[in-house]
Amino acid sequence: MSGRFSPAWLDELRERADIVSVVSEYVTLKQSGRRYWGLCPFHHEKTASFSVDGDRQVYYCFGCKAGGSVIQFVMEMERLAFPEAVHRLAEKVRMPLPERLEDAHYERLQSEKARIYEANRAAAQWFHSQLWAPQGAPLLSYLHGRGLDDAAIRRFGLGAAPDAWDALTQALAAQGYTPAELVRAGLAVDKNQRAYDMFRGRAMFPIINAGGQVLGFGGRAMGDAQPKYLNTADTPVFNKRLGLYGVHLLRKVRDLSRVILVEGYMDVASLVQRGVTGVLATLGTALTVEQARLMKRYAPQVWLAYDGDAAGQKAIHRGLDLLEEEAVPAKVLVFPDGQDPDEFIRACGLEAFEALRPMDPATYRMDALRPGYDLSQEEGRVGYAKACAEVLRKVREPVELENHLRHLSIATGFSHDVLLQQVGQQAVLAPKTPARPRNSLAPAALPDHVKAERSLLALLCAGRIAPQVLSGLAFTVPLHRVVAERLFSGQSASAILEQAEDDAQRRDMAEIFGLDLQGEADQALEIAADCLLRIHRHSIQQRIAEHSQALPGLDGEARQQAMAQIHELMQELNRLKQGRKEGSV
Ligand code: UTP
Ligand code: MN
Repeated sequence: MSGRFSPAWLDELRERADIVSVVSEYVTLKQSGRRYWGLCPFHHEKTASFSVDGDRQVYYCFGCKAGGSVIQFVMEMERLAFPEAVHRLAEKVRMPLPERLEDAHYERLQSEKARIYEANRAAAQWFHSQLWAPQGAPLLSYLHGRGLDDAAIRRFGLGAAPDAWDALTQALAAQGYTPAELVRAGLAVDKNQRAYDMFRGRAMFPIINAGGQVLGFGGRAMGDAQPKYLNTADTPVFNKRLGLYGVHLLRKVRDLSRVILVEGYMDVASLVQRGVTGVLATLGTALTVEQARLMKRYAPQVWLAYDGDAAGQKAIHRGLDLLEEEAVPAKVLVFPDGQDPDEFIRACGLEAFEALRPMDPATYRMDALRPGYDLSQEEGRVGYAKACAEVLRKVREPVELENHLRHLSIATGFSHDVLLQQVGQQAVLAPKTPARPRNSLAPAALPDHVKAERSLLALLCAGRIAPQVLSGLAFTVPLHRVVAERLFSGQSASAILEQAEDDAQRRDMAEIFGLDLQGEADQALEIAADCLLRIHRHSIQQRIAEHSQALPGLDGEARQQAMAQIHELMQELNRLKQGRKEGSV
């Protein structure tokens, strides 16, 4: 089905397109638990049973069993063929089509990227090693002086670029990297036909993606040297607008209630060292749409924790606007005395940090407006009330609106009703949280061992169990075997759905990927063990049945043997049942 597009390229397209934001353009989605829910666009319904799973990048309707990847969603909605839907999505995320390039060119680009990742990794390791060498001593003591301990330095893979012209270039030349390769990776610059290190005399922050690849670096100058932070220029693997600093620490973190977005690399390292989880930073630019979408994958809410200075506060307004456009629920953490998060947590500690109450965007915006008006004058009160009404127009929840109006009424002296009129939305009705469909587990009609197999595949595809847990397991259903093999080979749920042979098979696969297995993250192994037991029991029952069926046609020695076999299998079955009872007490 994928035709001329390489699997890696399609993976990237699906990743960038993000199913949640694409579906949101057609269906009003409301988050509940780990998924988004809405009214199914493929069949008529009054209660939402259409779900979108941002982690697995698939959609599935519990009512009509429609399911698929983001590409398939666009195919269905726009009635497009696969390549057309791919074009449409690629255009949307501004990703060049591989077919416009020669295939050979595309391959070359892929291998160039792989080489840059390698060079970056080698550089990160070398920078890190320099911290503990004599020439790195000033940088190590700089980092210590900034309050970072050795554990945090190791965790973030921080490093030292010594104050020399080409120390890195030479070190990597010894590992086989040519100057041209280092220039392409942004690690060196070409001057008069010679390569010089890009980063000199700087504390190095490697920027690592969720897959653990080193994309580039941010380098902090010592003292007042300029620029304060030097970032890797855009390369084939690094684009400041697309990534976020700190995502590599969130790979295994589940159920974050919020991410905290800070301005600086130093803020991330400092907060994480002191025990805050889910901290991310942009890469030296203002927040972008792509980064907002990326954050949605990690938590349902973003808290902006920017510097307390004027620039930081201005960036908050911009950030709130952008997050609102992308429908990412946001809050703001405000630090006293113009401090940044790093300064605040160093001065006041983790407890004080966690005790900070995040502000909702409307309160933040109205507070910011207030100094612009003289509320002791009628003119000021009118102006302030009007400006706040603009802000309040965006508040969706009636109870929240009510709260804001009450405060505003006290501040301005206008009655609640008049203010509500000014806001001009008497009847804001929040979309109801969809009830979770009751049949969100495997349908009862399937035999128990088949349900168990499906549950195992769901766990595997959600990354809740390792493939090794299933080693040696022979799936009885052929489709399950196929899905398992593809998951084992590293294919994503969405890629597998795109390879379905027909609609019926696709529904079947989508249902497996749509399975919602209850239980905490750490119970996955327990659930898996239970499934494996149920499958094992079934296979014994199966063998007993086979032997029993053969019995009437046997006599003498053969019959004795078959009887003994059955007896043994029955005993094993009993032991399993026993073990399960003891285990479940
Ligand atoms: P800040 O100047 O707020 O950094 O810039 P900071 O974290 O407080 O730095 P310290 O504490 O003085 O070391 C925030 C972010 O803006 C980008 C960097 O990504 C930095 O982390 N920046 C800043 C640059 O890219 N270049 C600069 O020259 C300055
Ligand atoms: Mn700062």
